[in-house]
Amino acid sequence: MCGIVGYAGRRTAVDIVVDGLRRLEYRGYDSAGVAVVGDGELLTEKRAGKLAVLRAALADGALDAGTTGIGHTRWATHGGPTDRNAHPHLSSDNRIAVIHNGIIENFARLRAVLEADGVEFTSDTDTEVVAHLLASIDAPLPEAMRRVSRQLEGAFTLLAVSADNPDMVVGARRNSPLVVGRGDGENFLASDVSAFIAYTREAIELGQDQVVVITPSSIEIIDFAGVPMTGTDFHIDWDLKAAEKGGFDHFMLKEIADQPQAIADTLLGRLTDHGIALDEVRISDQDLRDVTKVFIVACGTAYHSGMVAKYAIEHWTRIPCEVELASEFRYRDPILDSSTLVIAISQSGETMDTLMALRHAKQQKARVLAICNTNGSTIPRESDAVLYTHGGPEIAVASTKAFLTQLVACYLLGLYLAQVRGIMYADEVGAVVRQLQQTPDLLRDLLDQMDPVRKLSRDLSSARQVLFIGRHVGYPVALEGALKLKELAYMHAEGFAAGELKHGPIALIDDDTPVICVVPSPVGNAMMRDKVVSNIQEVRARGARTIVIAEEGDEGVRAYADDLIFVPRVPTLLAPLMTTVPLQILACEIATARGYDVDQPRNLAKSVTVE
Ligand code: M6R
Repeated sequence: MCGIVGYAGRRTAVDIVVDGLRRLEYRGYDSAGVAVVGDGELLTEKRAGKLAVLRAALADGALDAGTTGIGHTRWATHGGPTDRNAHPHLSSDNRIAVIHNGIIENFARLRAVLEADGVEFTSDTDTEVVAHLLASIDAPLPEAMRRVSRQLEGAFTLLAVSADNPDMVVGARRNSPLVVGRGDGENFLASDVSAFIAYTREAIELGQDQVVVITPSSIEIIDFAGVPMTGTDFHIDWDLKAAEKGGFDHFMLKEIADQPQAIADTLLGRLTDHGIALDEVRISDQDLRDVTKVFIVACGTAYHSGMVAKYAIEHWTRIPCEVELASEFRYRDPILDSSTLVIAISQSGETMDTLMALRHAKQQKARVLAICNTNGSTIPRESDAVLYTHGGPEIAVASTKAFLTQLVACYLLGLYLAQVRGIMYADEVGAVVRQLQQTPDLLRDLLDQMDPVRKLSRDLSSARQVLFIGRHVGYPVALEGALKLKELAYMHAEGFAAGELKHGPIALIDDDTPVICVVPSPVGNAMMRDKVVSNIQEVRARGARTIVIAEEGDEGVRAYADDLIFVPRVPTLLAPLMTTVPLQILACEIATARGYDVDQPRNLAKSVTVE
C-alpha cells in the first residue's frame, strides 16, 4: 500500500530516494518522508500530502549530506494522513528511523508494554512501535531487526537506518513486497523495481520472513531465525521510458496508448509450429489434463478480466470455471482438491486478498497458476506456475493496459488448456492466436478515432449517474467501464447484465440518464446482439440517453443510439479488447473535465496489500 525506498551508496541519498518515491507514488500519496544518515546523526523531513509538498520542504538542501537513506510514500491505515503520522518514525533518542508498508496487527499490545516502560509515542501509527523496539535492543541493527520482526504479527516490510551505522540500510519482510537492486558501489531496496531501474537492472527477489542488509558494497540476507539465505537473482528488462509520461498529460493516457504494444509484447513468442508454448507454466501436461474444475480469483479490474476468461475457458476447454472475488473466496470454504486449477490474476502480484485466496487454494492441494505483470512479486513466487503479461510498468492507479494484457494471457491460457487436453488442434489454436495478433493494429486504428469520445465526455461530465449494460463478455466490460468512472470521476456508475436491468435496476433510469450499451457483434452472435438491442429500447422508452458501443458496420443500431461509437470487428470472445478502450478514455476525460487527478484518484492505492 505504501511505497518504500532505501539507498546505500556514494551519491546524495535524498536525491535517489525521492526519485524512487516519485516512481512509487502510485502506491499511496497521503504523505511522504525521508531520513538520511549524515555526519553521525539522522536527518529527517516528512510532510502530509503528495510528494511535491515534501520536495518543496527539501529544497533548502538540509538533507543533502547523507549517502545512506530511506524514503516512504504513505497510504494511510493507522492514523490520519498528517505530518505526525507520516513516516519515517524515530526512536525516542532520534538514533533510529523506520519506514513501514503493511499492518502490524499486534501493535496495540506492543505499544502498551512500551508505554508502561515510559516510552512516549508521537504518532497514531502501528509503525512507531518498531522504532522503539529496535532502540530497546542492545545489538547491531540487523540483529535487532531480526529479533523485532519475530515479535510482530501481520504483514510488513520495514526499512531502518541508524545514526550508529552510517553505511547501512536494514530491511525485513513478511507478506509484503521488498526487492533488492544490486548496483556498482551502491545498492537499493524498494517496494518494486521501478524505484531503482534508472540505476540498475539487476535485482534480487527475497523470500518470506527475511532480513536484508545493504551497504554500498554488500548485500546480506538472513531469515528470521538467523540462518544465512540467498535471494533469487533476476534481470529487469522493463524499458525506463515505460515508467515515464512520455509527453502525455497523465500516465493513464500514456498507458491507454501503450495498449497495442503491450498486447503485442504479451503475445510475443507464444505461438510455435506446435501451437501455443507457455514455458513459464510448470504444471505438467498430465496434471492439466486431470483438471476437473477451474477457479479464477482476483480483485477489481483483474476480477473483470477473470469474468471474461470464464467465457473463453469454458467455451474452449469445456472445463467448468468459476470466477470469485479473491476477498470472498476462502470464507465460503470452496471445494478444492488436487484436480482443481486456481488462476490468480493480479497486475501487481502483491494484492493481499488475492494472495490469501491463493494460499488457501494451495493448502487445499489445488494447483495455482498466476497471471501477473510484476516480476519478483509475491503472487507469482508462491504459485505453481506463472504466465507473465508483458505490459510494462503500470503507474496510473486505474488499470488499463493491465486489463487488456490480462485478457490476452487468459485467452492464451484457455487455448493452451484446450490444446493440452486435445479439445482443439494446433491449427485451430493457431487461428485464434493469429486473430489475437491482429488486435494491436486494430486497436491503433481505434485509438486514432477517439475524438468523438472526448467530445462526448464533456457532455457527460455533469451527469448525476451513468449506467452501463452488456451481455456475455460485454457484461464484464460494462462493469469495468463503471469501475473506471467511479474511481476516476467519483460519479455514481453501475454496470449491469443487460437482461437483468428489467428485474429492478431499470427503476434508476429517468430522463436523460446516460446508459452506455455494449452491443455484441451481429456477425459473431446475431441473437445476442438483438437481445441487447431490445434492452436498449427498454431504457430509451424510459427516457435514457443511449451511448452505444457497437461493431463497425452494424448500421442497424444507429436508430437506437443517441451517440454511436464503432469499434473494429473481432471474434466475439475477443471483443473486450476493443469495447473496453472507449470506456477507459471516457472515464479519463470525464475525470479531467471535472478537475480530478487522473493518475492519483482520492482514497485509492495502486497495490492493495492489506485485507
Ligand atoms: O494488482 P492487482 O491486479 O491485483 O489489483 C487488483 C485491483 O486492486 C485493481 O485492479 C483495481 O481495481 C484498479 N485500481 C482498478 O482500476
